[in-house]
Amino acid sequence: MDEDDPDQTEDTGSVRLDNLRKKFGELVAVNGVDLEIRPGEFLTLLGPSGCGKSTTLRMISGLETPTDGDVFISGDRVTSQAANKRNTSMVFQEWALFPHMTVGENIAFGLEMDGVPKEERQKRIEQALEIVELPGYEDRQATELSGGQKQRVAMARALVREPDVLLLDEPLASLDRKLRQHMQVELKQIQEELGTTFIYVTHDQEEALTMSDRIAVINDGEIEQIGTANELYEHPDTKFVATFLGETNLFEGTHRSTGNYDVVDTGELQISVTDQPDQSGRESAVAIRPERISVAEPDTDLGVENTWTGTVTETIYKGSFNKYHVEIGSVELHIEQQVDGSDGFREGDQVVVGFSADAGELVSK
Ligand SMILES: Nc1ncnc2c1ncn2[C@@H]1O[C@H](COP(=O)(O)OP(=O)(O)OP(=O)(O)O)[C@@H](O)[C@H]1O
Ligand SMILES: [Mg+2]
Repeated sequence: MDEDDPDQTEDTGSVRLDNLRKKFGELVAVNGVDLEIRPGEFLTLLGPSGCGKSTTLRMISGLETPTDGDVFISGDRVTSQAANKRNTSMVFQEWALFPHMTVGENIAFGLEMDGVPKEERQKRIEQALEIVELPGYEDRQATELSGGQKQRVAMARALVREPDVLLLDEPLASLDRKLRQHMQVELKQIQEELGTTFIYVTHDQEEALTMSDRIAVINDGEIEQIGTANELYEHPDTKFVATFLGETNLFEGTHRSTGNYDVVDTGELQISVTDQPDQSGRESAVAIRPERISVAEPDTDLGVENTWTGTVTETIYKGSFNKYHVEIGSVELHIEQQVDGSDGFREGDQVVVGFSADAGELVSK
């Protein structure tokens, strides 16, 4: 972001998708996506393989033409504008540096295409390498870099064109776990420093939770829910969001209201949930996170609305917490409990389990 640039307005870097659709023959890859992304926001498109994430990103970049709907960037309608006319850059999963070129030549490539003069090019390459913390790497051959370094050069190559919006399609997917986690933090820092809008695609929920200002969860070409990591985790609207983001216990059944509570009756368990606003259409299932369920010695009074007696069928030690599977009749609950120095419960132990009516979330199908 250049504050002296007369072309910069308060809309610069915003992205709006208006009923965006893409069909490949009969296949509907993206099915009416509405989305508003704020300037400088880190927004993640999260969803399983084949749900339409890359297709959505490619329509924003101009690499794919929508079947229907519109794309606005920085307030301008760009739906039918060529990719190279849009002020966006893309970082791909396969970073595809030119192997026969140096780092500097790789980064300069787009600038040459843009007709940036040599002196200016040189300055911007050095700046970009500073940003991705590879100063002095300019003359290195692209083949002489580690995976993480290649990824950072690919970032530099995208950033050097000073886009208003940076589009990233699973850029860390091929790195090992440790490097990926390190790069997640670095990418987030770069984004915050530059104030550039990032639209980031991943199917990795942990990655989405770590990096994003907001997450749009996509299922089958449609946005299921959009919100902060905390909103989505604590208040999922749908079964899909509840189960895709973190682990959850899901109970389905018939619904009735007692005035104070919504009760979902699975036939075996009656689960009370505190009356929640905006719950219409969400009455048939309850989602409850494993860490919101308490487990204790038999006869303990947990002092919560929902309690049952059950049998521990599995104990998994996870270091900082224990994971229990507890059977209540034919229902199996997954519970996580902080390790408190005691041995915890063992398979075959009788236990009391329970959770408060506030802990459950009504979700729709
Ligand atoms: N060029 C194409 N021609 C035909 N079908 C396509 C094309 N590109 C994508 N598709 C189909 O559109 C759907 C969405 O694909 P897309 O690449 O957007 O998924 P994705 O969410 O990015 O998945 P992944 O996580 O596996 O990358 C898929 O069913 C895919 O097979
Ligand atoms: Mg993809």
